[in-house]
Amino acid sequence: GGAAALPSDLTGRRVVISAGGTREPLDPVRYLGNRSSGKQGWALARVAAARGAEVVLVAANVELPAPFGVRVAPVGTAEELRAAMLAEAGAGEAVADVVVMSAAVADFRPVSVAATKLKKGAASEPSAIELARNSDVLAELVTKRPPGQLVVGFAAETGDDDADVLTHARAKLARKGCDLLVVNDVSAGQVFGRADNAVVVLGAEGPDTEVPHGSKDAVAAGIWTAVSARLAPPAG
Ligand code: CTP
Ligand code: CA
Repeated sequence: GGAAALPSDLTGRRVVISAGGTREPLDPVRYLGNRSSGKQGWALARVAAARGAEVVLVAANVELPAPFGVRVAPVGTAEELRAAMLAEAGAGEAVADVVVMSAAVADFRPVSVAATKLKKGAASEPSAIELARNSDVLAELVTKRPPGQLVVGFAAETGDDDADVLTHARAKLARKGCDLLVVNDVSAGQVFGRADNAVVVLGAEGPDTEVPHGSKDAVAAGIWTAVSARLAPPAG
């Protein structure tokens, strides 16, 4: 007796999770990056594996050790993350049941990458960085998803003069076409790199789920409960 049994609601499920933040190179030593730590994605992978899933973690520039039983596929740029996610989500006979885009994907990359280090005082000293739009991995996963696969997006939003956080998030859910959107309110600016978190899981269909403030593992558990409620019954 004692502790409640860990749910095994993800047994036999294959899940693919992106985590961390992409880096877009400028030259051999410099990049444009972001502050995503990868901790929430790591927690999602750890909890899914503990609940019985076969888990692949596509990790963009995260230095954390692989969670127990999880296969980690390291990537650097948004384009590398895109290729890895498409391959893992739709891989042959082993199509994923759930795909989760928790990585912070760079929206833009430098148009040209210098082959050698940019130098002060050089004739070609740069005065600006020209950027090109990266492709939207989540939107592409939605378009290419096999039948029955759930696609989950993440959004860090702030309220502004136009609308509150959830209004912005509902618009993003509709725009992206994913099944679920996990929303972080970052208005107070305190989520990045922190050990704890709180989210709302918005559904394209069905009710929203509020996951209360807690450790990233506790929030991951709440997210998986919302996701597994929407999974089609196991095949066979
Ligand atoms: N995302 C993605 N590919 C991109 C950008 C974002 O797959 N090139 C995914 C993120 O991993 C996340 C979701 O899209 O799951 C929402 O990311 P977000 O940055 O909030 O959305 P954007 O469409 O980039 O909108 P914004 O202009 O607000 O940044
Ligand atoms: Ca973005």
